[in-house]
Amino acid sequence: RQNERESLHIVLNFAKTYFQENLQNTDEGKSIGLSYFRERGFTNPTIDAFDLGYSLDLWDGLLQEATRRGHSRDLLEKAGLILTKENNKVFDRFRGRVMFPIHNVSGRVIAFGARILKADKTQPKYLNSPETPVYHKSQVLYGIFQAKQAIRQEDVCFLTEGYTDVISLHQAGIKNVVASSGTSLTTEQIRLIARFTPNVTILYDGDAAGIKAALRGLDMVLEEGLNLKLLLLPDGEDPDSYVHKVGADTFKEHIQKNSQDFIDFKAKRWLTEAGDDPMKRAEGISDVCASITRIPDHLKRQTLSQRVAQVFHVSEQSVISEINRLLRQQQ
Ligand code: UTP
Ligand code: MN
Ligand code: MN
Ligand code: MN
Ligand code: MN
Repeated sequence: RQNERESLHIVLNFAKTYFQENLQNTDEGKSIGLSYFRERGFTNPTIDAFDLGYSLDLWDGLLQEATRRGHSRDLLEKAGLILTKENNKVFDRFRGRVMFPIHNVSGRVIAFGARILKADKTQPKYLNSPETPVYHKSQVLYGIFQAKQAIRQEDVCFLTEGYTDVISLHQAGIKNVVASSGTSLTTEQIRLIARFTPNVTILYDGDAAGIKAALRGLDMVLEEGLNLKLLLLPDGEDPDSYVHKVGADTFKEHIQKNSQDFIDFKAKRWLTEAGDDPMKRAEGISDVCASITRIPDHLKRQTLSQRVAQVFHVSEQSVISEINRLLRQQQ
């Protein structure tokens, strides 16, 4: 099994290099892939730092080249690089897409994300590797290898939704960034961040899906005992588009000024919705208290109850008794 994992790493690394060569040294790669990255504002050092590549628009470009180099079909299939159809026809999984290798925490390639070049409603925007013996997507954070040193240094990890958010922030000099890449955030991903810092700032897209994902992720981060801040970008923006629009300095300033702790983040939404409807306000208090019950440390829970009381203009005692009621209910 150890041998199989090693063979998978070798063939995945071969594929990474193959896609890089396609991007840099073929006419198709240069005119389609490289100009796509240029349009998105990615520089050469960035393309290098993330090992970005291109898969040629052929049925079996990788299969042919890999076979020539002695990699077995079986291994390519186990690595998620090729597919077999019912009629036993074998072909490349990734064709005519820009390639984003996914690295594990020690920098080895374990999977790929692959983006279509032009919007096409009949195909998913990103195709991703399937689960393999070396790729368990619930345990991986895109960009962790490139970000880990900066996460330690800055003592905070920015958590985004997508590949290009990580890459564009990194290029702008904000390197402590990772992405959950389309999966909803998992406990394993949060524990991976916790190896480098106890502080997480969620920077999700400013759309309905981003808000929903932030609210879902929030309780999980608290449950792991991490300190959490959140920031929603202006509607329709994601970290990639926004940093290109305003530049690195304004982006950093925006994070400084507008990131909220989870109580403010939730309370603001509830207070706006409730106006002076007392029932809605009570519902909001209970909802914030429910998030507080996720926090393992009871001293932290205590301090935060004071904040909830202030924000909602109610007595601290009523907040504490609501938290205790919820805790009893959970037992
Ligand atoms: P987004 O739709 O926000 O894409 O999905 P994006 O990252 O901003 O990509 P660009 O800027 O259009 O290139 C966020 C993440 O969800 C995953 C990808 O990891 C993506 O980066 N995703 C999205 C998929 O896996 N498949 C999809 O079809 C779409
Ligand atoms: Mn495994
Ligand atoms: Mn989105
Ligand atoms: Mn996005
Ligand atoms: Mn985007």
